[in-house]
Amino acid sequence: MDRTQETIETLRKYKQEHIIRFLEKLNKEKQDNLIKQIQGINFEQITELYNNTKQKIQFKESKIEPLSYLDKSKLTKNQKEQFDKLGEETIKAEEYAVVTMAGGQGTRLGHKGPKGTFKLDVYGKGKFLFEILADNLKEANKKFGVTIPWYIMTSKENNAETIDFLEKNNYFGYDKNLVTIFTQSELPLVDEQGKLLISKDFRIKQASDGNGGTYSSLRASGCLADMKKRGIKWIFIGSVDNVLLKMVDITLLGMAKSKNVQIASKSVAKANPYEKVGVFCKINGHPKVIEYTELPTSMAEQRDKNGELKYGESHIMCNLYTIEALEKISKEPLIYHSAHKKNSYLDEDGKEIIPEEPNSYKFEAFIFDAFEFFDDIAILRGTREDDFAPVKNKDGVDSPKTAKELYEKFWNRQV
Ligand code: UTP
Repeated sequence: MDRTQETIETLRKYKQEHIIRFLEKLNKEKQDNLIKQIQGINFEQITELYNNTKQKIQFKESKIEPLSYLDKSKLTKNQKEQFDKLGEETIKAEEYAVVTMAGGQGTRLGHKGPKGTFKLDVYGKGKFLFEILADNLKEANKKFGVTIPWYIMTSKENNAETIDFLEKNNYFGYDKNLVTIFTQSELPLVDEQGKLLISKDFRIKQASDGNGGTYSSLRASGCLADMKKRGIKWIFIGSVDNVLLKMVDITLLGMAKSKNVQIASKSVAKANPYEKVGVFCKINGHPKVIEYTELPTSMAEQRDKNGELKYGESHIMCNLYTIEALEKISKEPLIYHSAHKKNSYLDEDGKEIIPEEPNSYKFEAFIFDAFEFFDDIAILRGTREDDFAPVKNKDGVDSPKTAKELYEKFWNRQV
């Protein structure tokens, strides 16, 4: 059987006949490209992931327990000084690196281009999300007399545009020699019937495989080896879209060192029991973030003796790891979740369809699913006003409007 016939058989076996019909309409060069791509697809995996979209992950209540945390605003003066000193030592010894996850599609925001290139309308002039991050790091560098190595993860989809943007803007004044851009892996998207989508370039449409892809991509790209070579001991991994993200928090770092844990995270208190956020808990004795859809309401409403929600610490993508922790996680497979998203595609006649509503599933590994590989995690509760102003949606909650307000309020308080 030749390559084309083999591919057609595979497509038939996995009920992707629309791709066969599409293939027939392409010229030889495009056909070859598409066939080559199809041969690299793991159809068993995609079929399983699609079938999983119809099931809900269930946890037994008895196995879930609350996870303890320290509230940054309630630390004693001594405690805070002790943590800060420990944290500062690591930064000054140049043993600290930062990773920014910028491989997302940003579908909810609807900005054309990588999310980091979105300009938030602050203080009249506006600031790009990448610029806000660079400024945050530059400020820390100045304070501690170092230049922190900065690793930026892109997707195959947005890599070229991201590099182009950063080059044009001279990395917003960051020392280019200490910026490393690496690309994450991807998985095919499927529609609601499990059919593969065709992209504008006549290929199977793929998308980055979730922020959990950071770990294996850090290894595959050689960034982990590079960190080791530089003598890095602690790594911060954060999102591209939280304009109040504190990437160099010496209290969090010192707390992690003092508790002798391998992973740490900053949380903010859940606004109310029903807020749609993932919260920290312990499952079978291991740290985990449980999604709001998976936490039973009765547990979401439980309070401790101080009236605080027992499951009230939201995960805000503000995580810290030892190099050993990253070494370990980067070798372990993570489970994939499915996200229902809007994705444009070509129909069988080659016409582009731009959906108004979510029409497809993207398979994503989540960064926090790696926490359960450890026995413990140090959690430091920050505040929304200081630590959390995400740019997620076009309007309403977590939108440019709310992020602008929080950002300006924060900086007005600093002067
Ligand atoms: P989100 O999960 O909020 O996704 O990303 P998103 O792509 O920004 O937005 P939507 O859901 O499509 O609207 C949280 C962080 O994880 C990164 C994002 O860039 C963001 O910093 N991320 C997400 C990746 O780096 N890769 C991915 O595959 C997904």
